[in-house]
Amino acid sequence: MSSGAREREKVFVEHCKGANGLDKVVLREVRGTSAEVYLYGGQVTSWKNEYGEELLFVSSKATFKSPKAIRGGIPICFPQFGSHGSLEQHGFARNRFWSIDHDPPPFPTNSGNKAFIDLILKPSEEDSKIWSHRYEFRLRVTLGPGGDLMLTSRIRNTNTDGKSFTFTFAYHTYLFVTDISEVRVEGLETLDYLDNLKGRERFTEQGDAITFESEVDKIYLSTPTKIAILDHERKRTFVLRKDGLPDAVVWNPWDKKAKAISDFGDDEYKHMLCVEAACVEKPITLKPGEEWKGRQELSAVPSSYCSGQLDPCKVLQGG
Ligand code: BG6
Repeated sequence: MSSGAREREKVFVEHCKGANGLDKVVLREVRGTSAEVYLYGGQVTSWKNEYGEELLFVSSKATFKSPKAIRGGIPICFPQFGSHGSLEQHGFARNRFWSIDHDPPPFPTNSGNKAFIDLILKPSEEDSKIWSHRYEFRLRVTLGPGGDLMLTSRIRNTNTDGKSFTFTFAYHTYLFVTDISEVRVEGLETLDYLDNLKGRERFTEQGDAITFESEVDKIYLSTPTKIAILDHERKRTFVLRKDGLPDAVVWNPWDKKAKAISDFGDDEYKHMLCVEAACVEKPITLKPGEEWKGRQELSAVPSSYCSGQLDPCKVLQGG
């Protein structure tokens, strides 16, 4: 390893142990922002701003133990979102041990990014019995110099039997919010959605920004590439940008469902909201040798926002 690479490793990327001795990578940027990624699940479990404030939700009851997925952060749903057929709910990528990808194929990225880690998931023999396809799933997690958190997935069909495969996908992002009843989501109004609480029946959202007063489990279809999540109490806005992922899932279990989830605290629903860049309605098909790319980028900015006076265009402006 060159001395430059060693320097990058030391300052920006630290390999260490996390809960239950699981391998973890900590990304740090100069302003004091950080992110943590577990090799178990290839899962981001922490993203902090320059004041050390946690921006993602992880349940106090998360087990950090195979085979259960870690409850919080950003689980990866692959090769399916939801539960269909014999595959487990949300697929298996979130409860497999990923590896560090030491030699990823070239990545057209911003050379200013130093805090990043490349992970890879390939099927084990056991996995092939559950899903009979060969693939290489490369995940790059980057903490940008300004503290933005970027996840890029590249999935390649490496089948040697000439077979295509089809999958659905989601970055199951658990955002930490101060009080769910004071949160609004902008960018999804007037869109069609499939309601998971009503057997995926299709509805059209009304004109207003989305607010929360009961259980929500919706798949918004063909959304804009930017969605804003406003935490009114903390005067913070999350901006989620996505690419290659047309849909967006919004989930909060609320009180009753929360009690039924064993690794989720009874009252924790008040402090989380899942907004997930996803591809659900129209599954992706890859022929052998083909690669798909899907990206989610999160930033957290102060809301220049007074209740009822938000100009959605302002929040969603700019690159
Ligand atoms: C959401 C789904 O994305 O994930 C919900 O829309 C589901 O239907 C939720 O309940 C949590 O799933 P899991 O498997 O992590 O408990």
